[in-house]
Amino acid sequence: VFRTLDNLEARGKRVLVRADLNVPMHDGVITDATRIERVAPTISELAGKGARVVVLSHFDRPKGKVVPSMSLHPIAEKLGEVLGKPVAFVPECVGPTVEAAVAALKDGDVLVLENTRFHAGEEANDPAFAKALAENGDIFVNDAFSAAHRAHASTEGVAHDLPSFAGRLMQAELSALSAALENPERPVGAIIGGSKISTKLDLIGNVIEKVDTLFITGAMANTFLAAEGIAVGKSLQEADMHETARKIAHLAQEKGCEIVLPVDAVVAREFKAGAESSVCLIGEVPADAMILDAGPRTVELINERLATLKTLVWNGPLGAFEIEPFDRATVAVAQEAARLTQAGKLRTVAGGGDTVSALRHAGVASEMSYVSTAGGAFLEWLEGKILPGIEVLRTTGQQLGLD
Ligand code: 3PG
Repeated sequence: VFRTLDNLEARGKRVLVRADLNVPMHDGVITDATRIERVAPTISELAGKGARVVVLSHFDRPKGKVVPSMSLHPIAEKLGEVLGKPVAFVPECVGPTVEAAVAALKDGDVLVLENTRFHAGEEANDPAFAKALAENGDIFVNDAFSAAHRAHASTEGVAHDLPSFAGRLMQAELSALSAALENPERPVGAIIGGSKISTKLDLIGNVIEKVDTLFITGAMANTFLAAEGIAVGKSLQEADMHETARKIAHLAQEKGCEIVLPVDAVVAREFKAGAESSVCLIGEVPADAMILDAGPRTVELINERLATLKTLVWNGPLGAFEIEPFDRATVAVAQEAARLTQAGKLRTVAGGGDTVSALRHAGVASEMSYVSTAGGAFLEWLEGKILPGIEVLRTTGQQLGLD
């Protein structure tokens, strides 16, 4: 329902590309360039078609102020390296300096503008700021799925002012996500981990409507177990969510979604690297111990069940994977999902910040069918929410009779 780059006549046009260059950075050094690498094909394709590419992005959360450490300058340099061609940079994203730099572009050139969040109008989705951004383009291409849950001027507002298109990464994200949850090959399962039900309530509510099996893992599982009256010792859990957990379990039953909870656990008395740990069955967790990972029987149970599925959606680790040895269940299940995926038996789509680092830690991030670049947007999509950055492409597409 929206236009893509397929039939875009871009030669000589000023194309504003909304990328998500919000990459992790430590002491000025980019620690993970995945988002840059994944948006690069769209920029290359446009430049190859003779467009004058003007890249927009936010970086971090400067809250409407100029924060020099949050400049996109070093990220623009990295983009140049990835593209294998020079990339110009202007330390502004609207106004006369930008206009002059854009006017100087030749067909096939790439220019990165400064962090859109240096202006308060960005997050406020101020129409005047969106117009000022739109001044520098003839066409808008949104390739920032991972920022599409934000109704900001550069993700949503500007699409009202210019003919708008979905970029290649946006297309890839949407088709992978819809193949996983909207039109999946069944049976479909979801691994949902994390520490709190309270933050993933809407997500679970939506997912139980769509999947056949839901594996609840991580500390979130403790709340479900405790809600059934099973002692979980000192484990992290939400006592005020027991009633909610029971309702979810009931609703899942009504919808024909089977919830699978851990049957054993790795427990320890302290949460630190190398802490003395042991395995016990669920129901036998000592009063002074806490669950920090799923146990080997749970891994076996999940892995057996994975073999019966055709599609798997993965969000959240099985345990406290950042600290060894509590990464074992996450690693073992990730490796089995990767093996089944590589064998063509399972389509695995994973996303959400922690999930991607967990899969990397297991060494299998590149072996899944699709790993989303999105954190918060992936979660909102799992919640079944409308993402404003995508909705505006759809509605403008509908107006054009593309539906
Ligand atoms: C992300 O990293 O999830 C996106 O870039 C959005 O960033 P935000 O949470 O600061 O809006």
